[in-house]
Amino acid sequence: MGVPRYDTDVPRLPTVNAHSNTMADAIADALCNGGACLIDGLFADLADDLAAEARSLQQRDALQSARIGRGASRQGDASVRGDSTLWLDDPACIAGPRLLQRLDTLADGLRESLRLPIRSVEAHYAHYPVGAGYARHRDRFRDSGSRLVSWVGYLNRDWCAEDRGELRIHFDDGSHEDILPMFGTSVCFLSELEHEVLPARRDRYSIAAWFRRD
Ligand code: OGA
Ligand code: MN
Repeated sequence: MGVPRYDTDVPRLPTVNAHSNTMADAIADALCNGGACLIDGLFADLADDLAAEARSLQQRDALQSARIGRGASRQGDASVRGDSTLWLDDPACIAGPRLLQRLDTLADGLRESLRLPIRSVEAHYAHYPVGAGYARHRDRFRDSGSRLVSWVGYLNRDWCAEDRGELRIHFDDGSHEDILPMFGTSVCFLSELEHEVLPARRDRYSIAAWFRRD
């Protein structure tokens, strides 16, 4: 039996410093041992602009309710997934592409450190209204292994534990880790790990990105 875990504990995932020149190696280490880590300072200088853009897109109704599955099985089901999204490379996004550039640089580092065939990065803004979540899932579609590594960054100022909305990552040993979606927090994990978004008591903004094989 491991140490008991409590939902509101400070995450015990390793934290990697984004300003270290060994960032990609440290992330690769964490992904290989345990499968997840926090990254400190990866987008601190962009966070204000990204948060303003996410909010403005949502207020202008530019986000679309998210769909699950692929092809013919693609469907909207708010009981599974209640967020609305927009890809960062959409022409409506100005701040988004700056983060995409940074994630591209990280992709180069991870490709080398992890020796994974990462070919591209995709990312979207997501808004979860009060009470919405995303049921336990993996980011790899059932019929395709194209997403290798997932990254999520959070845009919510003054978020506290009572606001909930944690990202819960489930590990193979049955344990889990909860991450509060606080402004500037960024988390990276293997796309094959199961995870879920617990319903929040406030509007919740995030950016989810995937390092892809193709
Ligand atoms: C996703 C996802 C997590 C989050 O979009 O696939 O798991 O915390 N998002 O927003
Ligand atoms: Mn996910």
